[in-house]
Amino acid sequence: MEVQKDARISAIDIAKHFGDKASGTLTPVLDGVSMNIQEGEFVVILGPSGCGKSTFLKILGGILPASSGKILIDGTDYGTQVPRELLKRFGFVFQNNNLLQWRTAAGNLKFMLETMRLKGEAWQGRVSEMLEVVGLQDYQDVYPHELSGGMRQRVGIARALVHDPDVLIMDQPMGALDAITRQMLTFELLDIWHKTQKTIIMVTNNVNEAIILGNRVFIFSQLPAKILQEIPIDIPFEERNHQVFSSPRFLELREKLNHHVRATLSLEEPA
Ligand SMILES: Nc1ncnc2c1ncn2[C@@H]1O[C@H](COP(=O)(O)OP(=O)(O)O)[C@@H](O)[C@H]1O
Ligand SMILES: [Mg+2]
Repeated sequence: MEVQKDARISAIDIAKHFGDKASGTLTPVLDGVSMNIQEGEFVVILGPSGCGKSTFLKILGGILPASSGKILIDGTDYGTQVPRELLKRFGFVFQNNNLLQWRTAAGNLKFMLETMRLKGEAWQGRVSEMLEVVGLQDYQDVYPHELSGGMRQRVGIARALVHDPDVLIMDQPMGALDAITRQMLTFELLDIWHKTQKTIIMVTNNVNEAIILGNRVFIFSQLPAKILQEIPIDIPFEERNHQVFSSPRFLELREKLNHHVRATLSLEEPA
């Protein structure tokens, strides 16, 4: 795949393996994954469990090096390893939000600023600003154990935004939530994306979530992951609300995505 000159992030022909041939432990995990992600875009990755989705996100965010291929950020080619200095440009949200239990909601955001060495009033001001973005302005002084699962995840999202990253990387951010909370948070996340205009790359295993949130959905194959399909989601932002579930276009896209997801799973079965 060609590098798109104006892309925020380009991943070109990314391969990754763990272990090595000599000891007989070589496991190929990614097999030539390429995508160009535009500034402000919401990209969703959907794929079977254990196929390499988290590994791909870690390579994009510089947590892991690729084995081959290259990553470009704003046109600069970093080869197989995005450098540590660029960590500030990313915000991460994981399924298990890893909040510090002994710090309040605001305290968790402040801890992120301390870690990033961001001092001064403007940064402190962002703490309440971001808690407001996720609807938790009244819960600043509350400890994680006093919050519901959905609220804790919202603190995790606010924390990922507090240092004003350009790119938000989310790995099954709603995976641990019950179905009703999950659906509510999906629409809240859509709103957060709209308000903040961040570039978001999210892994999910939920087709509805992928359609409500994504500009494009990439379907990964079984291990080692390749991109099987890239599906644009052509539902206007204004139509992405609770009524969307009954819209013909939504149902069509859901059928299409489910079809491709089923196809990846059937590859697993012996011929
Ligand atoms: N640090 C590691 N060392 C060795 N194998 C790993 C490591 N991280 C992940 N794997 C393996 O790579 C494969 C893909 O893992 P992962 O990217 O977490 O998949 P997914 O997020 O799609 O469920 C799995 O088989 C997993 O066991
Ligand atoms: Mg994973």
